[in-house]
Amino acid sequence: MAELKAIRASILHFPNSTTSPEQDFEYFADGILVIEGERIKAIGSTADIQSEFPTLTVQDHSGKLLIPGLIDTHLHFPQTEMIASYGEQLLEWLQNYTFPTERKFANPQYAQFIADKFLNQLWSNGTTTALAYATVHQCSAESLFSAAYEKNMQLITGKVCMDRNSPEWLSDTAESAQKESAQLIEKWHNKGRLKYAITPRFAPTSTPEQLTALGELVKSYDDVYVQTHLSENKDEIEWVKALYPDSRDYLHVYEQYGLVNERTVFGHCIHLEEHTWEQLGAHQSIIAFCPRSNLFLGSGLFDIEQAQRYKVPVTLASDVGAGDSFNMLRTQGEAYKVCQLQSITLHPYKGLYMMTQGSASALGLPDIGNLNPGTMADFVLLNPSFNELSELRMQSRENTPEDTLFALSMLGDERSIQSTWIAGQPVYQQN
Ligand code: GUN
Ligand code: ZN
Repeated sequence: MAELKAIRASILHFPNSTTSPEQDFEYFADGILVIEGERIKAIGSTADIQSEFPTLTVQDHSGKLLIPGLIDTHLHFPQTEMIASYGEQLLEWLQNYTFPTERKFANPQYAQFIADKFLNQLWSNGTTTALAYATVHQCSAESLFSAAYEKNMQLITGKVCMDRNSPEWLSDTAESAQKESAQLIEKWHNKGRLKYAITPRFAPTSTPEQLTALGELVKSYDDVYVQTHLSENKDEIEWVKALYPDSRDYLHVYEQYGLVNERTVFGHCIHLEEHTWEQLGAHQSIIAFCPRSNLFLGSGLFDIEQAQRYKVPVTLASDVGAGDSFNMLRTQGEAYKVCQLQSITLHPYKGLYMMTQGSASALGLPDIGNLNPGTMADFVLLNPSFNELSELRMQSRENTPEDTLFALSMLGDERSIQSTWIAGQPVYQQN
């Protein structure tokens, strides 16, 4: 039997899949999480856990808030270094910043170097699972998989596929995209906690032949994910219309090639027609809501109420490098503001749910997202009073967990992440 570890803190999570996270949470103001090896053994109030495990040695983090590890469902690991690049909207931003940066990943050593930096950024911001895009180069996906595998991390990635409207030095073909993606699936999908996502960048950079080849892969490997972009920017949408004149709408392009199912994750979905919402609901595809990116690139405001109306699962995502922070709590803060601009009030528990249990349920990942006994011990300890201002804010009134969470979503940064744990081991600790 592995030695038990135990952490005392305030503990907050959503034990089940729910449509009402405002009600269906579990909170222990003074609680203990017990870990055995890589999994959670028990969760409860300090009094209950101490009577059940009388000889337990406990690390006391009273005053801190323990939550499940955060899940970021859409970001680009090669764009780590180009975060915060000035002045352009989507299509120019891709040409001017993204493609030249992604070119560097033809070099496997460079890809490995950035993969390590990328994971450090995730962990120092409390993120323990990511659904990340690599570049067109097979070695870029290899490097991220191997870095995550070393830490027994639950991570999903895939080689980007693009065979038109991209520079020649950043293009594959229909055949090579299918072959290299299949090789990566065979090698990495379901190895440890890793999963594969077939990754056409977006409709404008794939020929019908390439999308056909990728649709064949979806048929052959029925438990892999698909990740791509949908209806982010108005010029992009017009371009898709011109490139695919026979498709009813942007989503229909992906539907025609067999790329849309309940394991398809669409980034953005800002400008959708009513019938597209209906189709997304029918497919139960997943939307990655990327508020920081949508504001940064001026793409528009995501309509969370439409998603609710059509019962489309929504998860939160940073979309680094168009998103200007790796911090998912701050991403939640920006989601709140995007909703404010539409006279919608986003409850802090709804935000937390969309980056923990809600994402795990949408992605069908039973081992993460909550702190139930048996779940993998991926969690974060937050320090709500990490600087003078946050301390003042926390002392200003009697704090509820939702108020603490909300303040962190506005004020927090790496200093508010006390430690991040993956599979029962700390991968990041504040000095
Ligand atoms: N659409 C196609 N590629 C990209 C990308 O790298 N970032 C964003 N935000 N949108 C995209
Ligand atoms: Zn993206």
